[in-house]
Amino acid sequence: MTKTILITGAGSGIGQDTAWALAARGHRVIATTFDEAQAARLRAEAVSRGVALQVFKLDITSAADRAQILALELDVLINNAGVGESGSLAEVDVDRIRQVFEVNLFATLELTQLALRGMIARQRGTVLFVSSIAGRVPMPFLMPYSMSKFALSAAGAGLRAELDELRCNVHVALIEPGAIHTGFNQAMTDRKYAWMGPQSYFAGQVERMKAAEARTFALLEAKSTRSIVAQIVKAAEARKPRLRYVAPWIQGLGVRLARVFGV
Ligand SMILES: NC(=O)c1ccc[n+]([C@@H]2O[C@H](COP(=O)([O-])OP(=O)(O)OC[C@H]3O[C@@H](n4cnc5c(N)ncnc54)[C@H](OP(=O)(O)O)[C@@H]3O)[C@@H](O)[C@H]2O)c1
Repeated sequence: MTKTILITGAGSGIGQDTAWALAARGHRVIATTFDEAQAARLRAEAVSRGVALQVFKLDITSAADRAQILALELDVLINNAGVGESGSLAEVDVDRIRQVFEVNLFATLELTQLALRGMIARQRGTVLFVSSIAGRVPMPFLMPYSMSKFALSAAGAGLRAELDELRCNVHVALIEPGAIHTGFNQAMTDRKYAWMGPQSYFAGQVERMKAAEARTFALLEAKSTRSIVAQIVKAAEARKPRLRYVAPWIQGLGVRLARVFGV
């Protein structure tokens, strides 16, 4: 039952909490981080907690960093690293969207392809994509991010079906967190205010939007990562994971209803 599990973006938030949870369950966890400073902090914390974590820097947009995983025999790859971007599609600089897709989709897929080499050869493995409920329902003013998660969810579902054809015992699942308080959402929603100035179509609505965002997050965000971490652990340990794992469940229900009513 003990698995070798690599997780990206484990320098903070959901990724780091998942690393602790999987290590506590006896797995060999390889927790990778965006930069060296995060890696050093995480190594120090693992020592102080007395937890065996293997930690190294893996910027998923760096080909050299990605190549490191070829030396590892992974049972599970958890594609958790992600970036956020916000702003109206009517006026956002499209290069901002490209940068989000570079991390959330293209680099994630490139890393996955490397992991799949070993998994398909060994006829064993699981790949998890940490997408979002923003990849199921379009989120106005978060579309640069939301679109990247739609694309990631589509990629995960399509890859799952392709690997099923191979009958190679390599599984793919989507993790779809709702709003969870890690600081990610606040940083993402604030990014648009750096450029949505007086020239923006929405300049007259910025103050109302800021207040509405603060209210929404205060109301909706889960205060802890516990529920989504439990789902990731379940998916990582499953013999045959299902397609989607969503948490908190109430936000998952909200998304289902939104889709039924055609949002
Ligand atoms: N929190 C939510 O409400 C929520 C909801 C749905 C989905 N998600 C998804 O959950 C995942 C984790 O998010 P989180 O809330 O835990 O936020 P987070 O703490 O910001 O986690 C994202 C991690 O990815 C890292 N990262 C960014 N670019 C990277 C790259 N090129 N290579 C490697 N690592 C990179 C970040 O490093 P830096 O901190 O240095 O940028 C950060 O450590 C993300 O994919 C996010 O889209 C979060």
